[in-house]
Amino acid sequence: MFSWGHIRHTLHCVVKGRSGVIKLVQASDILKQHSRFSSSMADKFKLPARYGTGEKSVWVEYIQLAAEYKPAVNLGQGFPDYPPPEHVTKALAEIATGDNPLLNQYTRGFGHPRLVQNLAKLYSPLIGRELDPFNEILVTSGAYEALFSAILGHVDAGDEVIVIEPFFDCYDYMITSAGGVPKFIALKPKCKSDNMTSADWVLDEQELASLFNSKTKMLILNTPHNPLGKVFTRSELEVIADLCKKHNVLCISDEVYEWMVYEPQKHIRIATLPGMWERTITVGSAGKTFSVTGWKTGWAYAPSNLMRNLQVVHQNCVYTCSTPIQEAVARSFEFELARYNSPECYLFSLARELLPKRDYLVKILKENGFNPTVPEGGYFIVADWTNLANKIDLSSEPDKYKDYQFTKKFAKEAGVLTIPPTAFYSEAHKSLGENYARFCFIKKDENLQLTEKLLKEWNAKKK
Ligand SMILES: Cc1ncc(COP(=O)(O)O)c(C=O)c1O
Repeated sequence: MFSWGHIRHTLHCVVKGRSGVIKLVQASDILKQHSRFSSSMADKFKLPARYGTGEKSVWVEYIQLAAEYKPAVNLGQGFPDYPPPEHVTKALAEIATGDNPLLNQYTRGFGHPRLVQNLAKLYSPLIGRELDPFNEILVTSGAYEALFSAILGHVDAGDEVIVIEPFFDCYDYMITSAGGVPKFIALKPKCKSDNMTSADWVLDEQELASLFNSKTKMLILNTPHNPLGKVFTRSELEVIADLCKKHNVLCISDEVYEWMVYEPQKHIRIATLPGMWERTITVGSAGKTFSVTGWKTGWAYAPSNLMRNLQVVHQNCVYTCSTPIQEAVARSFEFELARYNSPECYLFSLARELLPKRDYLVKILKENGFNPTVPEGGYFIVADWTNLANKIDLSSEPDKYKDYQFTKKFAKEAGVLTIPPTAFYSEAHKSLGENYARFCFIKKDENLQLTEKLLKEWNAKKK
């Protein structure tokens, strides 16, 4: 292989050497070979076509943006900026330094026994059937890997997968990298008003039914929904379930925000609907459940015949997840299960803790010209910025979509970082997300108060 150092050295010999002509020829040959080699390398080692659309990531871009512009508040990515429950982090500290050295070594590939047993204990009563911890649950590297294993473990070349927009952006790439074909349908607001909630964003039933055909393998549901915060109602889930049953389609139910649901809404697991257990893979996340997103531990549960396919992908991809973290999540569930019926149980107190943050952010967004959709679940608010369009000059922002332009300019001018929702739409439907920005509210009260101050100052400058 020719490195630039090699070429530089040879050129150096050209100047110094006695038989200059020969060496000049050698140098130009080397340069030619180098450029031929570089272009053949570029050809041969380019990103495989199946990842073609996955090259651009809103997360990579906006984390970079945050590092560059250092906005005063970051309401972009979905994670808390305050500590998780003490018993959770204490468990991990004790495990790492405790007297069982094996807890720092590999554990069972499909899930640490203590964790799968606790997951079975937690979910069995919630889904109304006894979950088999060793055959019906898989522990994964975040919910992300559960989605990956479920999609790669079931989608074959040409299979169609129905995806509800806006959608958590990795679904699309996972489907296409498996050779599948995503078929998109967007949630749309029933009407536009100043008091919208996520319940106002609905699917057109006829349009949904028209997407099902003999090639449809799977539908991906996300409830509570990121980014809208929609909590699908029983009747909405029944429509989806009936179509899945009619067309013999699998449902992946991404329920990572299952514990963040605001009264009077209730989270309904589609796997509990009649005839749905057999065809549903439900995905959860310890990162979201215990406010430890950096732990990247998740799971999937489903009947054992479906789980087998996920296990095969998992065992040939990550094989086994971190033992101390699985042990800590297991102990955290034990702790919560022991106080399940008390108001302190974190599985229920989290939503109560988030509710005033949601209401405060909704209020300050409204006071400052945004039109937020009040979420019934999750910890994001999608807010329409159309009324602020005349206050912000986006002409200096080269991005293709207006929400990218707005969120970047807004971060630079107001110091508040948000996420552009078109990242959650397919190319054909991006216009549906262009007038919005996504705000995350699982943030310290002082940072939400700082957001209010920054919004007011920004607005005052624009008068
Ligand atoms: C809808 C949805 N699914 C899955 C994930 C991934 O969860 P994890 O961090 O456990 O991989 C996220 C993370 O933000 C999400 O919003």
